[in-house]
Amino acid sequence: MNIPFRNTLFALAFALVTTAVARAADDLLIADFEGPDYGGWKAMGEAFGDGPARGTLPGQMRVDGFEGNGLVNTFRGGDDSMGTLTSPPFRIERRHLAFLIGGGKNEQKLALQLLVDGRVVRSATGPNDRSGGSESLEPGSWEVSDLMGRTASIRIVDEAKGGWGHLNVDHLRQTDVRPKGPQIDVERSIAVTARYLHLPIRHGAPKRVVTLRVDGQTIVRNDIELADGPADWWAPMDVSAWRGRTVTLHVDRLPAESTALASVGQGDEIRDADTLYAERLRGQFHFSPKRGWNNDPNGMVFFHGEYHLFFQHNPYGWDWGNMHWGHAVSRDLVHWQELGDKLLPDDLGPMFSGSAVVDWKNTSGFGKDGKPPLVLIYTAAGNPTVQCLAYSTDGRTFTKYPGNPVLKQITGGNRDPKVMWHEPSQRWVMVLYVEWQKKHTIHFFHSPNLRDWTLGQIVEGDATGKPYLYECPDFFELPVDGDPNRRKWVLLAANSAYAVGTFDGARFVPEQSNLTGHRGKGFYAPQTFSDLPASDGRRIQIGWFQTATKGMAFNQSMTVPLELRLLGTADGPRLTFTPVRELEALRSSTVFQAPGPVDLAIGAPNPLAAVAAELQEVRAVIRPGDATEVAFTVRGVPVTYDVKRQELVVDGHRAPAPLHQGSLDLTVYCDRTGLEVFASRGLCYVPMPVPPKAGDLSLSVRAVGGPVRFERLEVHGLRSAWKAR
Ligand code: FRU
Repeated sequence: MNIPFRNTLFALAFALVTTAVARAADDLLIADFEGPDYGGWKAMGEAFGDGPARGTLPGQMRVDGFEGNGLVNTFRGGDDSMGTLTSPPFRIERRHLAFLIGGGKNEQKLALQLLVDGRVVRSATGPNDRSGGSESLEPGSWEVSDLMGRTASIRIVDEAKGGWGHLNVDHLRQTDVRPKGPQIDVERSIAVTARYLHLPIRHGAPKRVVTLRVDGQTIVRNDIELADGPADWWAPMDVSAWRGRTVTLHVDRLPAESTALASVGQGDEIRDADTLYAERLRGQFHFSPKRGWNNDPNGMVFFHGEYHLFFQHNPYGWDWGNMHWGHAVSRDLVHWQELGDKLLPDDLGPMFSGSAVVDWKNTSGFGKDGKPPLVLIYTAAGNPTVQCLAYSTDGRTFTKYPGNPVLKQITGGNRDPKVMWHEPSQRWVMVLYVEWQKKHTIHFFHSPNLRDWTLGQIVEGDATGKPYLYECPDFFELPVDGDPNRRKWVLLAANSAYAVGTFDGARFVPEQSNLTGHRGKGFYAPQTFSDLPASDGRRIQIGWFQTATKGMAFNQSMTVPLELRLLGTADGPRLTFTPVRELEALRSSTVFQAPGPVDLAIGAPNPLAAVAAELQEVRAVIRPGDATEVAFTVRGVPVTYDVKRQELVVDGHRAPAPLHQGSLDLTVYCDRTGLEVFASRGLCYVPMPVPPKAGDLSLSVRAVGGPVRFERLEVHGLRSAWKAR
């Protein structure tokens, strides 16, 4: 026998054996929940249903981070449903048992358990124990070498009710490769050299609890979709107050390989400032925050020559959350300057909606050196949810009142105080939304000084008792048809449904209620300016314009400022909405103007064929005569007047638009994010957050069923309100 050959063979065999030993044995799948049912697993109770969930369940925040299409999701039937799900027995044959887990945190009541001989030998729970948070599943594992060879089973337990009373579990497997665990309580200290820290955001990433600390003190805590790798965009966190000092960013949990904290940078400008306000889906004359999400307008007030617009702001996400009060000012209602967040979440909770007043007589005592204070009245939506004050004498820096809250919780659903000075009774009046006895109500309070409030009245519903006033109430007086001797009070809420009636400082007596405000879509939580100078005499409203701007570093916007009036009609006084005249300052070119009346025949060529403008203002007074339709197309969006039904149809959405003495006035404002259409002397206001067709700059009109006469037809191209004037 040839010895060297034998040796080679031996060596080869040895090498094969050692690689086999060194190589980890393949993973053993316990369950991936991809099938239509739970297979051999046994479900008890309601929380599990007949089989695995396919992702997010109705009413649940978006669930992600699971593998494939199915997972165990005990939100079935809501948070209150309970039960257990138990696997068939299996042998422990690998050193680790790995899984994905998410949902509520409760070691006792929400558990993924490993059972051996009927005893719980390992247990894990989800990460969330407070409102907010994330439904994302994240990797977890147990080291089980001591149990090698034993027979075990897995049990998923949901005995929890209420908020976060559910668990998400997926992809259970046995493995010899130790799964990398997450990093817990990760910190980075940063010597502040600039105005902002830039935080990496990825839409849809798991939310991390990110806390800014200075000298061991928590400044603010936010739930942030931190990017563990490349960021979609960078959220600026203003740390200018600590320039030259060291701050600490603390994150509750990060995956092993996350680059999130290391990637946080600094700068005096926000990142990507060169494209600011020029972004593909940035409304060009509708206010939106530079970065993050907005919802309701808040604290709208005129003070020292400036219109102040505060707003519900999530500075650190594309979706709702982390409610701050953002702040912007304007001198003309058209050009807005965003100044940065003024109310940050604190120990009393996130900063929900509210209003602002100028306390001219310094009834609150917050004034200084004879200067009247600007007072913000807001909801701190913690547990309890309470009403609070903050004040300023310069309209720039705000101090939260140390005596907060000024109004204790009535029910958990009490929010959105709107305050006004009632001159005849010389006191403040607050309307507050209260979800009370399972009804949507408005509570009226009054106060001599903004700090002490007394309940006056509760308005519950319309004449039939039906509730219609949801959230964000507003309350103001308007003359009917401009007649100062015929004044009525209007009580209006988030969906812009309203009542008209009388008010003597103590009681609001509705004469007509549950009237319809706007007639479009995506309009909510409007508010009107407080303290406009008497010489102005207008009531000006701005609403939240729900323009979804996917893929942008910002989301949502505000409507254009609207002038509200009460118009006397055969049915009684009705609110009208018209765009404020200040918007005319945006006109950059008159693209079409008929010198006199224009007659448009059926089949006639489009008289507006020369129009090529991205931002358009269309003004028309139309006599439709015997025509059946007057059909405009504004950058691809159909805006049609249905003459027979006297309805305006905007992108398929119908709204009543009565003719007045045989004619219809029509105004269209077209921006990158949508259209706002006004008709019938303001009785018909149709906000429509549909972006017009990119690249289509056209405008056309045709007559259908008969010729149409335009008494006025005028089109203006508009300039961006973000560009220097
Ligand atoms: C309305 C609303 C308010 C609340 C705020 C929270 O959109 O739900 O009732 O104060 O948003 O962001």
